[in-house]
Amino acid sequence: MRSHSSPPSTVRRKIGGLFAALTVGVLGSTAVLVAPLTSHAAESTLGKAAAQSGRYFGTAIASGRLNDSTYTTIANREFNSVTAENEMKIDATEPQQGQFNFTAADRVYNWAVQNGKQVRGHTLAWHSQQPGWMQNLSGSALRQAMNNHINGVMAHYKGKITQWDVVNEAFVDGTSGARRDSNLQRTGNDWIEVAFRTARAADPAAKLCYNDYNVENWTWAKTQAMYAMVRDFKQRGVPIDCVGFQSHFNNDSPYNSNFRTTLQNFAALGVDVAITELDIQGASGTTYANVTNDCLAVPRCLGITVWGVRDTDSWRAEHTPLLFNGDGSKKPAYTSVLNALNAGSTTPTPTPTPTPSPGAGQIKGVASGRCLDVPNSSTTDGTQLQLWDCNSRTNQQWTLTVAGELRVYGDKCLDAAGTGNGAKVQIYSCWGGDNQKWRLNSDGSIVGVQSGLCLDAAANGTANGTLIQLYSCWNGSNQHWTRT
Ligand code: G3I
Repeated sequence: MRSHSSPPSTVRRKIGGLFAALTVGVLGSTAVLVAPLTSHAAESTLGKAAAQSGRYFGTAIASGRLNDSTYTTIANREFNSVTAENEMKIDATEPQQGQFNFTAADRVYNWAVQNGKQVRGHTLAWHSQQPGWMQNLSGSALRQAMNNHINGVMAHYKGKITQWDVVNEAFVDGTSGARRDSNLQRTGNDWIEVAFRTARAADPAAKLCYNDYNVENWTWAKTQAMYAMVRDFKQRGVPIDCVGFQSHFNNDSPYNSNFRTTLQNFAALGVDVAITELDIQGASGTTYANVTNDCLAVPRCLGITVWGVRDTDSWRAEHTPLLFNGDGSKKPAYTSVLNALNAGSTTPTPTPTPTPSPGAGQIKGVASGRCLDVPNSSTTDGTQLQLWDCNSRTNQQWTLTVAGELRVYGDKCLDAAGTGNGAKVQIYSCWGGDNQKWRLNSDGSIVGVQSGLCLDAAANGTANGTLIQLYSCWNGSNQHWTRT
């Protein structure tokens, strides 16, 4: 068992005039792909504006509203992806065991396809909205019924659905990071991976997503639990292609700017990400633009779906959380989203992948001109790193591995001893943990995969002996590094 030493007290940086310092630090051996700036005429609908970057902008559609022409006019004009709000759920599609009914689901599906839209499937295995017969099942009978349900629904839509929410909301809220108790969970912890394997066999063309809410804030236990599950699935070859972030933001679960870190970290596991049920209490234009920009910033973010058309169509109408008023007029948040989509109109490029340099190299601080150094050439686990005059000795030679580790002496890793501001950055025997993985960004910042925080010279120090810590990324030159 490894143990983390507790982080030293947070060191406050003097950020004063240094905010103005523009970084010139580009990590020398990192392959950086820069999208060419292409100019487009601004598009006038959400779907077309999102399509400029190869993404979609979708909405939930309720079959019962398809004879409301104000509703269908807006939905058809603005959106190019559709999710059935309730019609593809378990109670709707298999009301009696073994008897499938796709009447309402097909109404939504056919409306979408006849109007040129793609369809997200929602949802195949869920603790909620189970028909009565399923609620009463348990054990192997329920496991079999789950697989049967996945097979039945996916066969009906085989080759027609772009993404399926295979499993929905399997983690409990709060600080435990535990699975939610449910009849499905009680069939055994492997129910989720079984659902994904069944789904892959049923329709190999569909992207298979895990979908949940309250998983947008990177620091939340539920987010970390979902991350650990997806990482485990990828490591063991469980077929998962995407993660859906429902993004129901409200006063109890507000938007946090670390959502972008969350999307980036999941994408770095090798899955696509999507914003699947967006609504925001009060519909702040700023928050809507922030969420849109977060998706645009992540090449593997496939698109955004809002959970309804007008405020009056929302499951939380009293929050007025959507982009259109009840009378069909556009709200200020609509314009914020459209402008953000039009501004971010370049085609997404693949995430810059750190290219391991052929040999070891020094990591030099842009502000200090000094190197990341293991004090006294120590090899002791837990030794905190410092800045020191660059001297090309082995205690300053760092090798970036394909896994994203920065190794020194061959078997010691750059290791974060915590996840908060001021956490010590030390050497520790390499063990494959996320606290030993780093993203080397094109702006010269080095970001901890586990924490989302930046490698930082404490207190803006530049002298020999300045300690190295984690700190919130703020674009300071004490957080920018070059490899030499
Ligand atoms: O259609 C019946 C109607 O005939 C009846 O008179 C009425 C009485 O309550 O109920 C109607 O059904 C309601 C249905 O929505 C259609 O409006 C259900 O009671 C109600 O429970 C159901 O709520 C849906 C909810 O999921 C159920 O969990 C919401 O519309 C739907 O927006 C919501 O969507 C979920 C996602 O699937 C998963 N993520 C969270 C999201 C919001 O809760």
